[in-house]
Amino acid sequence: MADMRALDVETHSIPFFQRYGSAARMLHWSVACLVLITWPLGMMIGFAKKDVVSAFYLLHESFGFMVLWLMLLRVGNRWLTKPPQHSGSRPEKFAASVVHGGLYLALIIMPVSGFLATNAHGFPLKWFGLFEVWSPIGKTPDIAWTLSAIHTWSAWILLTLLALHLGAVLMHHVVRKDETLYRIL
Ligand code: HEM
Ligand code: HEM
Repeated sequence: MADMRALDVETHSIPFFQRYGSAARMLHWSVACLVLITWPLGMMIGFAKKDVVSAFYLLHESFGFMVLWLMLLRVGNRWLTKPPQHSGSRPEKFAASVVHGGLYLALIIMPVSGFLATNAHGFPLKWFGLFEVWSPIGKTPDIAWTLSAIHTWSAWILLTLLALHLGAVLMHHVVRKDETLYRIL
């Protein structure tokens, strides 16, 4: 960190803090937007009136499915590029990796379980009504409700992780007034 500051003073070209790479930043915000749309849409399915419920399913499932592909890109990007160093204490770094790792895992389990569940119930995904997506399983009533239960439980785990994530960002930005938020902007 001290080295970065020295370089900044001398060259004015390297920022005082390190940011995530541009691909990581773009993927973070696209996935964040999709999740902030998909999660409430999923919750609304149960409350939607009969004549619009299939539209809620279609939008929820089509947006949610995009999360899977972006997350696969994200895992690849994370593998190839190192995230910037944290300046926090060891327990803080540990907490951040647990929450970030949990978010990665939940964001893969969610679309996979949802996709397999809808196929197992006998409703293959027609992406935004355009084309049917190939599935490794067809109608399988035996496992359909287990997959749905995994999807529902993961949805609440994801919400908890999200609350911890946003709480941590707020704490850094408002209480400590440090550079954390700017690392991902
Ligand atoms: C990041 C992606 C996703 C998130 C955050 C998400 C979130 C949710 C939430 C919060 C619910 C309501 C939970 C409940 O009432 O049981 C739900 C329900 C549902 N979701 Fe998703 N979902 C995602 C992706 C998908 C995908 C890709 C599909 C299918 C292609 C899907 C299919 C369903 C179905 C069929 C339901 C109704 C309840 C069930 O049978 O499990 N979801 N989702
Ligand atoms: C909407 C407001 C959000 C804000 C302000 C925000 C802010 C941030 C910040 C500041 C970081 C960098 C933390 C660091 O210094 O290492 C970060 C990383 C991260 N965020 Fe968010 N975030 C938001 C939404 C989300 C959502 C909706 C998700 C996923 C559902 C998410 C998942 C992640 C993950 C997995 C990381 C770790 C970075 C990586 O390795 O890819 N964030 N976020």
